[in-house]
Amino acid sequence: MNAQRRTVIAAMLAAGLPIPAAFADDKLVLGFAQVGAESEWRTANTESIKSAAKDAGIELKFSDAQQKQENQIKAIRAFIAQKVDVIGFSPVVESGWGTVLREAKAAKIPVILSDRAVDEKDDTLWVTFMGSDFVEEGRKAGRWLLENYKGQGDVAIVELQGTVGSAPAIDRKKGFEEIIKAQPRYKIIRSQTGDFTRAKGKEVMEAFLKAEGKKINVLYAHNDDMAIGAIQAIEEAGMKPGKDITIISIDGVKGAFEAMIAGKLNVSVECSPLLGPQLMQAAKDLKAGKTLPKRIVTKESIFPMEVAAKELPNRKY
Ligand code: AHR
Repeated sequence: MNAQRRTVIAAMLAAGLPIPAAFADDKLVLGFAQVGAESEWRTANTESIKSAAKDAGIELKFSDAQQKQENQIKAIRAFIAQKVDVIGFSPVVESGWGTVLREAKAAKIPVILSDRAVDEKDDTLWVTFMGSDFVEEGRKAGRWLLENYKGQGDVAIVELQGTVGSAPAIDRKKGFEEIIKAQPRYKIIRSQTGDFTRAKGKEVMEAFLKAEGKKINVLYAHNDDMAIGAIQAIEEAGMKPGKDITIISIDGVKGAFEAMIAGKLNVSVECSPLLGPQLMQAAKDLKAGKTLPKRIVTKESIFPMEVAAKELPNRKY
């Protein structure tokens, strides 16, 4: 510890202020409350955060909430009690964060939203929000459909939504609907949550197929994992995914590229989980007293099946 830091700590102690553990041993401590391990995307996101923390020499306290908001709230409270330097989290749902975020603010611990936003009016409760523009991802999916779907007449779409109340589920639905409403022949005939998992995606697609059978022209899945689960359901129903039913999903994970190469998935809109390095940099900047931009948007692309084989070797998740 350098002398200047020792003087600051002495002054803080004299003023009766708590000394964050990390400050005392000079290592930045980041508490991160993760959503869970629901998808290939999430696994890549966790890996990105853990390896970036290691590379940056940051002590990471990592908590997996198993897709439960109450677990994330408990984890954030534990980080506050441990006096971490910075709290990062990816909120499982948008609402219900006001109280715990006010507790973090009262403890003077800056909060970084990573990947997903919260629905809170007071935007002083977090310092920055880094991640994708989910509405734009939904728009990209909708535009691809209008530009590439070849069939005539009414187009029956089934939608597999993400976790109820989560930012990506709300925004991807909104962006997609905003685009397809321009052409009334495109109709969402069924829409249900598959909770961003393969198992649920398969189960809900089975129910869609049972109810609508060959009427279904298009599947719009809010993530690749649900699309991959649905592909299995479609094959088990004796239909050809990617041909009998056009399939659009979001994320761009390797599993989706493999499905595209096999001709079973038509397009995947990219959503990058590789937020770790950016998150560590932001935590360091905060500790150095820098001000961060309120919103940091991830740059992303879209991959139709025609480019999948060429792109797969370049994919990092
Ligand atoms: O918040 C990002 C979304 O969460 C990803 O699209 C999905 O796969 C994940 O579970």
